[in-house]
Amino acid sequence: MTDKKYELTNLSSGKKSILEARSGTLGPDVLNIANVTRDHGVFTFDPGFMATAACESKITYIDGDEGVLLYRGYPVEQLAEKSNFLEVAYLLINGQLPSAAQLAEFVHAIQYHTMINESLLRFFNGFQYNAHPMAMLSGVVASMAAFYHDSTDIHNPRHREIFAHRIIAKIPTIAAAAYKHSTGQPFMYPRNDHDYCANLLNMFFSVPCENYQVDPVAAQALDLLFILHADHEQNASTSTVRLAGSTGTNPYAAISAGISALWGPAHGGANEAVLAMLEQIGTAENIPKFVAKAKDKNDNFKLMGFGHRVYKNRDPRATIIRAMCHKVLAKLGKSDNPLFELALRLEEVALKDEYFIERKLYPNVDFYSGIIYSAIKIPQSMFTVMFAIARTVGWVAHWQEMISDPGMKIGRPRQLYAGPERRDYAEMSNRG
Ligand code: SDX
Repeated sequence: MTDKKYELTNLSSGKKSILEARSGTLGPDVLNIANVTRDHGVFTFDPGFMATAACESKITYIDGDEGVLLYRGYPVEQLAEKSNFLEVAYLLINGQLPSAAQLAEFVHAIQYHTMINESLLRFFNGFQYNAHPMAMLSGVVASMAAFYHDSTDIHNPRHREIFAHRIIAKIPTIAAAAYKHSTGQPFMYPRNDHDYCANLLNMFFSVPCENYQVDPVAAQALDLLFILHADHEQNASTSTVRLAGSTGTNPYAAISAGISALWGPAHGGANEAVLAMLEQIGTAENIPKFVAKAKDKNDNFKLMGFGHRVYKNRDPRATIIRAMCHKVLAKLGKSDNPLFELALRLEEVALKDEYFIERKLYPNVDFYSGIIYSAIKIPQSMFTVMFAIARTVGWVAHWQEMISDPGMKIGRPRQLYAGPERRDYAEMSNRG
């Protein structure tokens, strides 16, 4: 708490009120505006929530000016170097790094709940073969609420824990089923003797007619990408999960809402759009033309993978992923990856351009991730699904934090009404 106070004055009437400020552990103070409507009869107005803190949270901290990202206080760079995705999942959900026994129990709970109900598998037969996997993912995840009635009492901590284990364990299986459906290949069941990322790759790429050996380089690269995508404070999809969850709906429906929000090209859908953009640019000679398009206000083209609402410095995740590209491509014997070379050149050109410098537009998490996904043979249509698998951990952590808060209230913003004044119904004969 802090004793900083602000005064709000209506300069035409002279009416004054005091606004209490609150300090967090890190980052800017927040102004409590709860009484502004009572004291002044006005709403605050902040489309896009450019300057609005929607909640209090202990999970993730971002300093956009310094390019800092902390998961429960731990720098993402250290977790990327020393941890693994399921340990990071435990940390984000429980708030502390696990003991060896706690980690073993958590990993076992995830590893032994990866199968999905056979009826859920049959849902995929209803989709066209070319359905976008994000459409299949959001639909099938929402349908989980029709199967798991034993874990939807959101006020029961044990039910919340069962839900967390189930959704984290099963979302790779659902993703793999969506991928196999799109290829016409048979679904491959999860294996309890594989770790999280190896299991996903095996479900994606193995076929019944031959043995499949998961490439450890690919599994390790995926694990690191999942750590980097696991959480990111109150981004659009996490805010969607919080808003949906605040109505008391079942958690599978809230996660499905988050998947739908993530799909947008301004958010998680950008990783798929970056690869499409790089393929459209084709060669370094075309870069100036596309940079000019991105700057042209009459052209709605944007450099996908560039810019961020919060980071006005380098996105620390992009820095790590860019370095990863060099290592993973070399290990996979694909160092001369033309798309990666083009991405590096595009970054170099953009970061020297006044338009990008002035607006502090840097590569974000989505700019390089697709290079690695492609290198480990994940198809472009599945890139955002990969993002959703990782971000499910963050969504679960934020949903649990909100639901277990006794002060939780349903989210219900107000508006500035600019429509017609009251008017009476016009009979058809009286209409213009
Ligand atoms: C993610 O919120 C999160 O934390 C998200 C995320 C997470 O982990 O959850 O980090 C993941 O979603 C990353 C962002 C992925 N999206 C993209 O890469 C799409 C391309 N980027 C832009 O659409 C944009 O930068 C946003 C959506 C990311 C941020 O938009 P803002 O904060 O609303 O900023 P803005 O659109 O108001 O841009 C400010 C200026 C504008 O120019 P002016 O009106 O000032 O002249 O910068 C320009 C914009 O036109 N601009 C770009 C640009 N991004 C911003 N111009 C060209 N290309 C771009 N990519």
